[in-house]
Amino acid sequence: ETIFRKDYIAPGFWVDTVEMGFDLELSATHVATRMTMRRNHDSSEKDLVLFGESLKLLQLRMNGVNLKKSAYKIEGETLRIANAPDEVTLEIETLINPLKNTSLSGLYASNGNFITQCEAEGFRKITWFPDRPDVMAKYTVMLRADKKKFPVLLSNGNLIEEGDLGDGRHFAKWEDPFKKPSYLFALVAGKLVCQEEDYKLKSGRKVLLQVWVEDGNLDKTQHAMDSLKNSIRWDEERFGLELDLDRFMIVATGDFNMGAMENKGLNIFNTKFVLANPSIATDVDYAGIESVVGHEYFHNWTGNRVTCRDWFQLSLKEGLTVFRDQEFSADLVGTATGRAVKRIEDVRLLRQVQFSEDAGPMAHPVRPDSFVEINNFYTVTIYEKGSEVVRMYYTLLGHDGFRKGMDLYFERHDGQAVECDDFRAAMADSSGRDLTQFERWYSQAGTPRVKVDATYDAEAQTYSITLSQSCPATPGQAEKLPFHIPVAMGLLGADGKDIPLHSAAYEAQAGATSLVLELTEASQTFVFTGVSSKPVPSLLRNFSAPVVLEIDYSDEELGLLLANDSDPFNRWEAGQRLATRRLVKLTTAVQQGEELSLDSMFIEALRATLNDASLDPAFRELVLTLPSEAMIAEEFKVVDPQAIHTARQFARATITEHLRADLLSAYEAHLTPGKYSPDAQSMAKRGLKNLALSYLLEWSDESTFELAKTQFDEAENMTDRLAALTALTNFSGNDKQAKSAAKSLKAFYKDFKKEALVIDKWFMLQATARTTDVAKVRELMTHPAFTLNNPNRARSLTFAFCNANPSRFHAADGSGYALWAELVIALNKLNPQVAARLARSMDRWKKYPESLQAHMKAALQKVADTKKLSKDVLEVVSKALAS
Ligand code: ARG
Ligand code: ZN
Repeated sequence: ETIFRKDYIAPGFWVDTVEMGFDLELSATHVATRMTMRRNHDSSEKDLVLFGESLKLLQLRMNGVNLKKSAYKIEGETLRIANAPDEVTLEIETLINPLKNTSLSGLYASNGNFITQCEAEGFRKITWFPDRPDVMAKYTVMLRADKKKFPVLLSNGNLIEEGDLGDGRHFAKWEDPFKKPSYLFALVAGKLVCQEEDYKLKSGRKVLLQVWVEDGNLDKTQHAMDSLKNSIRWDEERFGLELDLDRFMIVATGDFNMGAMENKGLNIFNTKFVLANPSIATDVDYAGIESVVGHEYFHNWTGNRVTCRDWFQLSLKEGLTVFRDQEFSADLVGTATGRAVKRIEDVRLLRQVQFSEDAGPMAHPVRPDSFVEINNFYTVTIYEKGSEVVRMYYTLLGHDGFRKGMDLYFERHDGQAVECDDFRAAMADSSGRDLTQFERWYSQAGTPRVKVDATYDAEAQTYSITLSQSCPATPGQAEKLPFHIPVAMGLLGADGKDIPLHSAAYEAQAGATSLVLELTEASQTFVFTGVSSKPVPSLLRNFSAPVVLEIDYSDEELGLLLANDSDPFNRWEAGQRLATRRLVKLTTAVQQGEELSLDSMFIEALRATLNDASLDPAFRELVLTLPSEAMIAEEFKVVDPQAIHTARQFARATITEHLRADLLSAYEAHLTPGKYSPDAQSMAKRGLKNLALSYLLEWSDESTFELAKTQFDEAENMTDRLAALTALTNFSGNDKQAKSAAKSLKAFYKDFKKEALVIDKWFMLQATARTTDVAKVRELMTHPAFTLNNPNRARSLTFAFCNANPSRFHAADGSGYALWAELVIALNKLNPQVAARLARSMDRWKKYPESLQAHMKAALQKVADTKKLSKDVLEVVSKALAS
């Protein structure tokens, strides 16, 4: 059942128009589809092929004639009609049950409303259809439903007619003027209200913008609306791309498998990425909304106008659109350090999750060669590494060169379904650059490693940097060929200042202080001349390629970089290297029962950064944040989660012991009194202040506990309230303090009982608390507010525990894994996509000590042996077991 990229065959028939009629009832929706099709003479597929799943077929007519059962063949999800004429009008009637559809793919019910999710292959759960992205058609959709229960009826494009049907029912007819693949189809029906406004495009054309939510949530839509307007303006300014519709709608639903979906003109969102006001949403939520609203909006061009030929090309739209949303958020902040802060956050995610994916059983290239279930391939590799690949074009071609490539891409492919290779060709042809070797970023999985050897020749005044690349084997790919790696770099003198660069190979840029070296061979040496003293190299500036840079720095060199590098990313990076070195040593010391200690050089470097008022507080927060337990784990062949946890906690407590006074002043200096505002400056202040608070509570003491307690009681926004509650919950104090913390936790629940997104936070906070063990998670699972039926709620407790509380999840007795198996099996029945996501928590099981591996293998096997396992879960667990 594996599907291979090499087996791609163009569709046997194209679809020109699709007319759909929906009679919407929650447990029995009648769907009538009429489509005009014509034979694709270029295809080797001669049959007319449709896909369908969980459908009751009522009627199938071809060119006006009812087809008897013998005139077509249904096998699994495929329906074939042999010997169809070249021009076909197909009429299909199906019956579906949205209420019973717990997979949240296709047409389903959410709190009494109708919602759709068709990417990747959900449209086939609505009607039989050539449900593949290279089949693009024009849609007209008629919706009919009870007027009281479903007063709002939405679909893609423009509303062309609406009215009463007389019998308590009404209708709305929508027409999408643009051809689109079926995965971009959407309909929404139910009791919804909207915030709307007319918006004037740069061209002067007016468009209608709407954000639709359930009743009672109109006080939480302003930020999404602002983000949408910012997105529209940004795409006009940065890429010259205009909104092509007269109406653009966003709908929020509490039941959604992922973040959001870019359906043409009718984006559907998880409430988590729409609803915000200061009392329920944190700064992180505000930033998330801005970037996801941007992401989905930007898909209108990168994804919808130009779409994917097949699902192996998914990164064509996702990698590019993530790159665009990252740039959008960076441009909105505007400042250089603001951009760097965003870059650091993005790289942190890439390293922590994508590098780990690359090193495990689900490793796959940015353009995969095969899959069992496409929904398993909406991964950090497709999205985040895909974005890094796009960013490398940007780095190689420069700002204007990249824009030229984008322009050519649209000029060539508007209205088409294309491949990753077409994007690369546009970049190559517009710039005249040879990007042949660059293709390996799409075809080879794994994280390349670049090793650095440098020598200084004082007599010749030359500095030579040898870069050697390699890439570990990944499933199905034992050997890798060299990548085309852009390595942005500079050299620092002893005073910490950049020195002018002179290299024969980069003559045109002589005197510049930053260069992009192009590493294309397995090993290459770059020689710099006129270097009057031994410099400190700053390599991979701004993280110019998704690789691991192996370089031996002394502590002194890292200290110089941390204090001086003109590239803020590498400044942060130097701090992380200093920290990682120490955390690895501490972990080993814990394992060997040695005494733990932290040196003053490191502590003083942190102190200097913390107190440097010339630095953006957001940047200081990032430097002061120690590498996560997951990142430390990557440094070890065999992972010991408890030792890592103990080591990191020791480091945090020791830092606090020495920096208490500095942390306290940082706390006080970064208060944000007055009305809450989610601007970059205020967010940065809150971020540093709350980091200081979390450190301060590492050191048991009456006054800091009171500080957190007061912040919790008096907070006027969710950012401060949640930060304080998290610190209180993780505080290890006396009984009285523990009781007081528990009381705050209770009060929080009571205050926000009606806000589902806040209750998710309440579960998440507990799931990731230091003291929360398997038994506590099981207890929380019996809480009346907990359910596995809602993905957000399921994720907030169970995913958070399995993925973000490693020292507790990996309990020695294997009880965490047993819980994991139970959850995956339960979710598999309800929602295979969500189940398969949780299944991924066990990807790296081979990295743990054998005692744990035995428990993990048993849990994996238990899942694999489950009857009626979805192909989603089966693919994940069988790949893990085979590793
Ligand atoms: N295209 C959507 C986005 O990135 C996500 C769709 C995810 N679909 C899925 N089956 N997992 O915005
Ligand atoms: Zn996307």
